[in-house]
Amino acid sequence: MLNDDAEKPPAGRNRLVELRPPVEADAQDLFPLLKGTSVTDTLAWDGPLSLTEYRRGLHERGAQVAAGLKHFFTIVEVGSGRAIGSCDVRLDEDGSRAMMGLWIGEPYQGKKLGTAVIAELASYAFETLGVNRLEAEVFVGNLRSRRAFERNGFVLLQTNPAAVVKRGVPVDEWRLGLEREAWERRTTSLSP
Ligand SMILES: CC(C)(COP(=O)(O)OP(=O)(O)OC[C@H]1O[C@@H](n2cnc3c(N)ncnc32)[C@H](O)[C@@H]1OP(=O)(O)O)[C@@H](O)C(=O)NCCC(=O)NCCS
Repeated sequence: MLNDDAEKPPAGRNRLVELRPPVEADAQDLFPLLKGTSVTDTLAWDGPLSLTEYRRGLHERGAQVAAGLKHFFTIVEVGSGRAIGSCDVRLDEDGSRAMMGLWIGEPYQGKKLGTAVIAELASYAFETLGVNRLEAEVFVGNLRSRRAFERNGFVLLQTNPAAVVKRGVPVDEWRLGLEREAWERRTTSLSP
């Protein structure tokens, strides 16, 4: 059962990770964590084509974040100060709902950092952006991701058959969601 201890405190809110706007130089750390690794197997995105393209993309995203047009972050491991992944929140048109996504490089996976990133990002979306509902789309079978979201109070909303085509193959997706009320109840019960 995936949901049995979803009410326990998430690993987040304890500064394992820091989220900051991307800068071009992050590509140096992040490109090797994407290229030729398993990370993009469970993402709709297939990864950057080249280091040059990736540097340019991060530079543009940084400018969009500074202008308040995007909510995209580089994930930094607090202990080492290294860039270890990326995450973002995408608002819907009226700003009441948002979709979130993340990836973490293989050497840093399985250390509760993904769970911590989701906690940080959820706080940002509810507190700073003021959304009422957060959602995430996870490839069916990506249990680690589903679990990391459930650890933060997300619940399964539906399973969408053939939601995306990945490398020419249709892939089913789980849609997970977290309502503001549920998030507020959690954060209140976790407060000292
Ligand atoms: C998915 C991802 C973000 C999760 O982050 P992470 O730091 O590796 O995950 P965490 O260490 O926080 O662990 C999440 C939970 O999954 C559990 N888990 C790990 N592997 C599992 C598996 N094969 N089956 C079930 N649960 C698993 C962990 O035990 C943990 O649960 P727990 O807190 O109850 O012990 C990360 O692995 C990743 O970036 N993967 C590649 C890209 C991707 O899939 N992104 C998500 C797209 S929606």
